[in-house]
Amino acid sequence: MAKKVLITGASSGIGRDIARVFDSYGCELIITARREDRLAELSHELKGNPRVIVGDISGSDGAKELYEMTKDENIDILVNNAGFGVWGDFSSTDLDRELDMIRLNIETMHTLFKLFLRDFKARGSGKILNTASMAGFAPGPYMAAYYASKAYVLRLTQSAAGELKEAGSPVTVSALCPGPVETEFNTVAGVHFATPSLSSEYVAKYAVTQLVKGKTVIIPGTMMKVLAAASKVLPDSFTAEVTSNIQRRKGNKKER
Ligand SMILES: NC(=O)c1ccc[n+]([C@@H]2O[C@H](COP(=O)([O-])OP(=O)(O)OC[C@H]3O[C@@H](n4cnc5c(N)ncnc54)[C@H](OP(=O)(O)O)[C@@H]3O)[C@@H](O)[C@H]2O)c1
Repeated sequence: MAKKVLITGASSGIGRDIARVFDSYGCELIITARREDRLAELSHELKGNPRVIVGDISGSDGAKELYEMTKDENIDILVNNAGFGVWGDFSSTDLDRELDMIRLNIETMHTLFKLFLRDFKARGSGKILNTASMAGFAPGPYMAAYYASKAYVLRLTQSAAGELKEAGSPVTVSALCPGPVETEFNTVAGVHFATPSLSSEYVAKYAVTQLVKGKTVIIPGTMMKVLAAASKVLPDSFTAEVTSNIQRRKGNKKER
């Protein structure tokens, strides 16, 4: 599999492990995030010689800048993964922090998705993996805006997949929808998991296998597949109670 892959959010967690998986397949990588030391560490560890782009890609300007820096690289696969969460009662969470999250989780994801998709469609090849979440399937009290942001990622990806299918395009787009994964996500959100989590190594391997197959919605783990199916038949009021319970318990374990 000799492909060129651009991965956002590659300095830790799921993005870093996706980089390791593609590197093990002999792919050429472009890795990006804000923490230069982390990217340098990863770059030394990988067998290939990745191009490292250090920077904040938040918002459409950040995304457009990254696109301009990479559009002539003949990228085959975009992994649109950078994101973070904000925990707390919606009426009291910090507005600016939440708007920053919306800029990264929605605006950046949307902009990179559209710009690379246009190129891939015109060329007639390419794959895009947008990191959504199980959060995209349900209302999420105490992580309300994060859940809503991931519903956006999931629905946008599914809709674009439908358009590509109707157009008979060979380009595929996928939404990765993990449940809890052991990464730095919780540290950034200032909470601890209240439920069992998967390793990011497992999630990354599964995501890449399914992406290569062109699967539109990728859900790692049997339990999460069952929960995703259940969320389609259970009333939203019930799933909101369940997620509220999980999220409140996360907050109770808050350390800072
Ligand atoms: N962990 C979970 O339970 C879970 C579950 C479902 C979905 N997800 C999603 O998975 C994705 C990856 O998260 P993770 O769990 O791997 O968490 P993580 O370990 O905190 O990784 C987040 C990545 O995003 C990068 N990032 C954050 N803000 C950025 C910015 N403004 N500009 C550029 N890069 C930025 C971070 O790098 P720098 O800090 O170096 O910039 C880091 O590489 C996110 O979209 C998250 O919502 C996570």
